[in-house]
Amino acid sequence: MEMNNRVAVITGGSGGIGQAMAKAFLAEGARGIVLADLDAEAVASAAGALGVDGLACDVTNEDDVIALANFAIEKHGQIDLFCSNAGAGGEGLLTDAPNEVWQKQWDLHVMSHMYAARAVLPSMIERGEGYLLNTASAAGLLAAIGSGPYTVTKAAAVKFAEFVSITHGDEGIRVSVLCPQGVNTAMAPKSLGDGQTDGIIEADELASVVVDTIRQERFYVLPHPEVEEYVRRKGDNVDRWLHGMRRLRAKTMEGAQQENQHMTTYIVAQINIDDRTEYAKYEAGFAEIFSRYNGQMLAVDENPTVIEGAWPFTRTVIIQFPSKDDANAWYRSDEYQALAQHRFDASTANIAFIEGLG
Ligand SMILES: NC(=O)c1ccc[n+]([C@@H]2O[C@H](COP(=O)([O-])OP(=O)(O)OC[C@H]3O[C@@H](n4cnc5c(N)ncnc54)[C@H](O)[C@@H]3O)[C@@H](O)[C@H]2O)c1
Repeated sequence: MEMNNRVAVITGGSGGIGQAMAKAFLAEGARGIVLADLDAEAVASAAGALGVDGLACDVTNEDDVIALANFAIEKHGQIDLFCSNAGAGGEGLLTDAPNEVWQKQWDLHVMSHMYAARAVLPSMIERGEGYLLNTASAAGLLAAIGSGPYTVTKAAAVKFAEFVSITHGDEGIRVSVLCPQGVNTAMAPKSLGDGQTDGIIEADELASVVVDTIRQERFYVLPHPEVEEYVRRKGDNVDRWLHGMRRLRAKTMEGAQQENQHMTTYIVAQINIDDRTEYAKYEAGFAEIFSRYNGQMLAVDENPTVIEGAWPFTRTVIIQFPSKDDANAWYRSDEYQALAQHRFDASTANIAFIEGLG
């Protein structure tokens, strides 16, 4: 499909890839673009900068997606290309990721594509023509070693796109799935822990590959051509590929650990105190607890301040840990939990405030 004189909707339109695609479509002569994103102000300003429409829309909410499609159709008569592009990383590696994270990633990376398809396919099929471009990721074809929820839901996004193509291809529906590795946007690949990132490209480079691929109506949009080779190797021998990925994972973790060793992490704990004599005994024990997690009490304010209300004194303690992992280990330890839940000695101490954890 040529983009000249076409109408496109782009979700995640305030973001790096969404913006770059909008610019590229305009350069090809698109006659209408609707950008959609979570934040009304941000999307209005992103749209304003390009002279296109902007609409607030949470793609995980089907009513919002329907309203977006209706807006575009009312304004421009039809939608030729719907780009389901909104996405975000999710914290957690695998079974440690909370169910809410898994659900959010599923809603954001899969259900949003389903809502879009449900909203736009009927009118496209009626016209006998229409295009869906769904942004997945190379992670969906291969793996982002740092994130199971991201990888798994992006893989589901690829499968969803395949299934739309199989089901509706004969009715004139074209589908492409965008699977980049690192792209220089707010969602830097570092935050995805994407172990398979060879080189980070600019969003504008990606957008020109999108335009070319749509022109050729090919399924995969691969701005990093090496991804095609990785996918082929995976298909040739999945056991060998898994073995290689485990090696890559080990290497990535080793690198992260080395990086961690050079970090210094501070935690500031504000401790509320009822009885200073009691607290003095307690503080000695406190230091010992930190030392078990390689932490060291660096400084303690010598003049506890009086807080209005429940606590006669408050004391600020700075604890230094050699690495974020150590700090997090302490933060998640039973000792800390006991303190935080006032079980240690509710009458004398309570850690009220912690800062500095990543
Ligand atoms: N940047 C990369 O390295 C990279 C690599 C592979 C895939 N991707 C994918 O590309 C897409 C675009 O990401 P980007 O790199 O431009 O990052 P980005 O963070 O700049 O843009 C993502 C946009 O999606 C929006 N968004 C998030 N949740 C939303 C929701 N519920 N409803 C509506 N909008 C929502 C965000 O507000 C943001 O503007 C994402 O799907 C991402 O997973 C990015």
